[in-house]
Amino acid sequence: MRSIVLIGFMGAGKSAVGRELSRRLGWPRRDTDEIIRQRLGQTIPEIFLEQGEEAFRQTETETLRELSTGEPFVLVTGGGIVLRDENIALLRGLGWRCWLDGDEEELWQRASRRQNRPLLQAEDPRARFAELFRERAARYASAMEYRLDTTGKSIAAVAEEILGQL
Ligand code: S3P
Repeated sequence: MRSIVLIGFMGAGKSAVGRELSRRLGWPRRDTDEIIRQRLGQTIPEIFLEQGEEAFRQTETETLRELSTGEPFVLVTGGGIVLRDENIALLRGLGWRCWLDGDEEELWQRASRRQNRPLLQAEDPRARFAELFRERAARYASAMEYRLDTTGKSIAAVAEEILGQL
């Protein structure tokens, strides 16, 4: 079996769906943001603030390089993982890439519930969200094998749909 790689924008439900899949399949879960936090010993907002986005992106790439391809696992990624071509190539080597997509407004509603996203610490977070959403669509499209529209769907329903595709 190939590992499952979840990609997609902030608020797409990657973390929650990853947890559900890991539980249902009995596969370990890896989460690039969690690994980066552990490696650098800081929260994501602290890393962006004190070390800058580039340091975060570099650690993100190093994290991907070091993930093993042995036993299958569920990989949860940060929304910006597709920004680097090298990351997309690494993701291709890691497993089956599922893009959790959805209606922009619904993703915004989910993403803005928490204050832990440095990229949304903008003067007009909603406009910034829309801009990034537009800019990134083509990157997710080129990295994915399967696009899943999460609009109006529960975590369980999304996980179910993924299991049906395996
Ligand atoms: C980012 C998304 C975040 C996190 C970091 C950068 C992005 O992950 O990696 O704040 O560039 O979209 P989530 O997609 O889990 O919010």
